[in-house]
Amino acid sequence: MRLQSVIGQFTALNIVLLSVSAQSAQQLIDAVLNPFPNLTHYSSYSSAIYFNYTLYNQTPIAPTNYDKLEASAKNILPPHAYDYAAGGVGLEKTVDANRQAFDHWQILPRVMRPVLPARNLSRVIFNRTLPAPIVMAPIGVQTLFHPDGERATSKVFGEHGLPYTLSTATSTGFADVAASNGDGNPRWYQLYWPSDDDLTRSYLRTAQANGYEVLVVTVDTWDLGWRTRDLDRGYFPFIQSIGVQIGLEDPVAHEKLGFNALATNATAEQKQMAALYHVITTSRGVSPVWENLWKLREIWGDKPIVLKGVQSVEDAELAVKWGLDGIIVSNHGGRQIDGAVGSLSTLPDIVEAVKGKLTVGFDGGIRTGADIFKALALGADFVQLGRPILWGLAHEGDKGVRHVLKSLLAEFELTIGLSGCQSLEEVTRDLVTVTKVFQRLYTVFN
Ligand SMILES: Cc1cc2nc3c(=O)[nH]c(=O)nc-3n(C[C@H](O)[C@H](O)[C@H](O)COP(=O)(O)O)c2cc1C
Ligand SMILES: *[C@@H]1O[C@H](CO)[C@@H](O)[C@H](O)[C@H]1NC(C)=O
Ligand SMILES: *[C@@H]1O[C@H](CO)[C@@H](O)[C@H](O)[C@H]1NC(C)=O
Ligand SMILES: *[C@@H]1O[C@H](CO)[C@@H](O)[C@H](O)[C@H]1NC(C)=O
Ligand SMILES: *[C@@H]1O[C@H](CO)[C@@H](O)[C@H](O)[C@H]1NC(C)=O
Ligand SMILES: *[C@@H]1O[C@H](CO)[C@@H](O)[C@H](O)[C@H]1NC(C)=O
Repeated sequence: MRLQSVIGQFTALNIVLLSVSAQSAQQLIDAVLNPFPNLTHYSSYSSAIYFNYTLYNQTPIAPTNYDKLEASAKNILPPHAYDYAAGGVGLEKTVDANRQAFDHWQILPRVMRPVLPARNLSRVIFNRTLPAPIVMAPIGVQTLFHPDGERATSKVFGEHGLPYTLSTATSTGFADVAASNGDGNPRWYQLYWPSDDDLTRSYLRTAQANGYEVLVVTVDTWDLGWRTRDLDRGYFPFIQSIGVQIGLEDPVAHEKLGFNALATNATAEQKQMAALYHVITTSRGVSPVWENLWKLREIWGDKPIVLKGVQSVEDAELAVKWGLDGIIVSNHGGRQIDGAVGSLSTLPDIVEAVKGKLTVGFDGGIRTGADIFKALALGADFVQLGRPILWGLAHEGDKGVRHVLKSLLAEFELTIGLSGCQSLEEVTRDLVTVTKVFQRLYTVFN
């Protein structure tokens, strides 16, 4: 009796139910609560949530609203960890600008189109067919947010077949992350380009040996920005040996230092020296330059190389000229320059200048599935998720990450369908419009 009414209530909500040929009500429920991972009906996650509450009185592990999710993570995390992730530089104007840029654009949906429940979100990125153009942003020091850190995040991205980017500031090494990420899954490696070519070669070789197939070179963080929240605490995770694992494990670093800080007989002083050595060699205070890119190409071969941290049309054009395979339009989440332009505001002009000549990724301020839709409609080939995943991680490691990722995928797929699209090819520029109040301002100033 009760089950009947539950099913009646939900068939209207999700057509997935109709496509399940269940022999019994229990099978039907099982199919909704535990859909095959190979079926990318991301939007059925909402049914799973409603069913869990109706049948088992369980609500999700973390809020589905981003602001509440962040507030909940703040409650869980030690203050220095929360501030390290939430904070930006200076007055955090760039952090705000990243979010405000999304308000400049609004979705203009289409209706009465033949949109099927099986929306196709897949796209080929760097020669891999991805189930969705969504990538984990490189984020270091993840054990700050949960002891499982990178193991948890890489595991969940692997489960979904979505690329996981390992940071040079990771708190878990190449091999361990590859193992938790899973065989055959797309793995990318983000380089903070060392000042010492021997170290660079060693990091890149270890990355390739562990199946990392795209090289992301972050070019906006060769020195650390003025991070006011951390400065006021004197908090710098690397001094406490968080986020230096790649340096600690590297054989060339051992040679250069004359000891292995991970050896059982290593002294406390050696451990600290090795940690500092990694920070100094990777955030050296000297900017990388275009003219040296050939050194990376020589080591990485013809596998993709991508520059992360591009915000101007001129640099995007230079990236084409210097033979890069891609760029990621990003300002490091507002963590490097205060008072800078919102990342999404720079995207349309960059897309216009270089679309089709290289792959264009985007990050900065993505909080919802609708945000993903906007960035793709404005021409990004793929987007990266940053802070939302960290707030998920704070909620019991992989469980919270899984919940946040599934929620974003579900909302993204629903937004695509409800906007009248069946596939990503249909998510085009004409489905977003400049918010009216800004249109008026532009008219006044032009
Ligand atoms: C805690 C934290 C650590 C980060 N570490 C790195 C890093 O190691 N390498 C890197 O290229 N970007 C790093 N980033 C920047 C992200 O890759 C991404 O550009 C940024 O988080 C996007 O902004 P959003 O999270 O507000 O959407 C970090 C960001 C945060 C919040
Ligand atoms: C998904 O996986 C299940 C179980 O492994 C299998 O029975 C089903 O055919 C697969 N579906 C598709 C579309 O590959
Ligand atoms: C539903 O509950 C089960 C345990 O009863 C849990 O494993 C699963 O993650 C829950 N799903 C959602 C969407 O909350
Ligand atoms: C989904 O889209 C991808 C990329 O455009 C395409 O290669 C694939 O054939 C499509 N799949 C289906 C089932 O239409
Ligand atoms: C792309 O992938 C195909 C099949 O996986 C492979 O044969 C080909 O060499 C790849 N091309 C490049 C440029 O990596
Ligand atoms: C630790 O052991 C190694 C190998 O036995 C040795 O070379 C090294 O000097 C030792 N380190 C210290 C600090 O004693």
